[in-house]
Amino acid sequence: MRDHFEIRDGDVAGRIGELTVPRAGVTVETPALLPVVNPNIVTVSPARLESEFDAEILITNSYIIKTNDHLREEALEVGLHEMLDFDGAIMTDSGSFQLAEYGDIDVTTNQILQFQRDIGTDIATPVDIPTPPDVSRERAERELEVTEQALRDAEDAETGEMLVNAPVQGSTYPDLRERAGRTADATDLDVFPVGAVVPLMNAYRYDDMVDAVAAAKRGLGADAPVHLFGAGHPMMFALAVALGCDLFDSAAYALYARDGRYLTVHGTEHLDELDYFPCSCAVCSEYSPKELRETEGEEREQLLAEHNLHVSFAEIRRVKQAIRAGELLELVEERARSHPAMLDGYRALLDHAEQLEREDPASKGSFFYLSSESARRPEVVRHHERLERLEAEGRVLLTEGGKASGDRFDASWRVVPPFGPFPRALSETYPLTAEVPERTDRAAYEMAAEGVARLVESHPETEFVLAHDGWPETALARVPDSVTAEPLGRVPSDD
Ligand code: GUN
Ligand code: ZN
Repeated sequence: MRDHFEIRDGDVAGRIGELTVPRAGVTVETPALLPVVNPNIVTVSPARLESEFDAEILITNSYIIKTNDHLREEALEVGLHEMLDFDGAIMTDSGSFQLAEYGDIDVTTNQILQFQRDIGTDIATPVDIPTPPDVSRERAERELEVTEQALRDAEDAETGEMLVNAPVQGSTYPDLRERAGRTADATDLDVFPVGAVVPLMNAYRYDDMVDAVAAAKRGLGADAPVHLFGAGHPMMFALAVALGCDLFDSAAYALYARDGRYLTVHGTEHLDELDYFPCSCAVCSEYSPKELRETEGEEREQLLAEHNLHVSFAEIRRVKQAIRAGELLELVEERARSHPAMLDGYRALLDHAEQLEREDPASKGSFFYLSSESARRPEVVRHHERLERLEAEGRVLLTEGGKASGDRFDASWRVVPPFGPFPRALSETYPLTAEVPERTDRAAYEMAAEGVARLVESHPETEFVLAHDGWPETALARVPDSVTAEPLGRVPSDD
C-alpha cells in the first residue's frame, strides 16, 4: 500500500486524489498541474502562481540549477523554496530531458539525487533515458535497462523524506511500457511519470500517446500516482485523466506565450489571428486582441502566459468537477471534437474499454449518447459481460420501443441501443437510464445486436424473439440465426 496517495473519487480510470508530500508538509489535490518554472527565465513568479492561480505544486530543473554557478550557490545556501519564493511542493527534474535534447549530460543518478536533496527538493527525479518513439526495439530495450538501473540506484540512495519519481519508458512498444510500469511499481519509489511522450504530443499523435499510457498503466497498480511528463496542453487533460494520469507539467504556457500563441481547450491560436478572445480570464477581460498586440514584447508575453495558465488551471478544475459528476467521458468526447487527432486519441482510448471498465464506477450521473463513439464506452462493455450472468429461460421476447410496446407484448425484456437487451426490472439502473437520441445511429444498433448475440450464446436452451424498430441490415447481420427477428408490428403477441 502507498500511504502517500489516497484516491477520493473516480470516473473511468480518472480519479481525484490526495498526494501527501512530507518534505513540503503539504498535500496536493490531483489531478494537478505543475507549472514549469525555468529558474533562468521566470515568466510568472512562483509567488503569483501560488496566490493567483492556486498552484499547490510546481516543477523546476535541478540540472539547470546545478550547472549554473550563481543558481547553484543560491539554491544550496537558502534552499529552493526560499530561492523561488514558493511554499507549496516542488518537484525537480534531473537533466534527462537535456540528455534527450543534447545527447549528453555529466551527472549520475546518485549525484543528482544528492543535489536535489541538498537544495530542498520535495519530489526528485533520477536520470532516466527518454527514449523517443519509433526507435528500434534493441535500442528501446537497451535504454530501458539503463532507466531500470537508475531506479535501483535511486532505491539505494539516501533520500530521507524526499519523494522520488520512478519514470516509465519503453518508447512505442506497449509490452516494454507495461514491463517498465511493472518494474517501477515494484520499487519503493513514490511517483510514476510516463516519460518521452513529448514528441508524440508535438506530432499530434494522441492515439499513440494513449496506447503508451494505457500500457504503462497495465504494469502500474491502480494505487500508483501517475505523472504525464511534459504534457501541458489543456486540450488533452480530460483524455489523459480518463486514462488514469494524475499529474501534468506545463512549460507550454510560457513557451507558447513567447511566440505569441494563445491556448484554448480546443487547440492553439495565434494572437495575430484573433479578433476576439473566447475567454473571460483577468487578461482577456481587460484587453482585446488588438490591445494585447500593441503592448510591449515582454509585457505581452507575460500577459499571454497568464491567460495560458488561466485556461489550463480552469480545465483541470473542469476535469475534477466532471469526475465528481460522473461525466468525464462526456467531457472527453466534447474535447475529441476539437481536432481530428484528438478524435483518434478518444478512439484509441475506447480500444482500451475493457481495461478502463475495471476502474470505472458501476453507477454515476447519467450516460449521454453523443456520437457513434459512445457505443464503445466501458459501460456498454460491462453490460455485455453482465448479460452472460442474467437469468433468461423459456421463450424470451426482447422488445424495443419503450414501455408502450413492451406493455403490448407483456415483455419482460427490453432492448435499447447501444446496450442491447436487459430485464425490465433493470430499466432504472445505470447505465440503462441513458439519454439516447431519437435518431439512433448504426453503431448503436450494431452494438445492441452484439448484446443480443452475447445473451443468446450464453443461454443456449432459451428461445429468443427480437421485436426491433427496423434495424439496419448491418445490425441484423450480427443477430444469431436462431433468433426470430422481426420489426415491431409483425411480432405476434404471446397470447
Ligand atoms: N520531461 C519530459 N519528458 C521527460 C522524460 O521522459 N524524463 C524526464 N526525466 N523528464 C522529462
Ligand atoms: Zn483568457
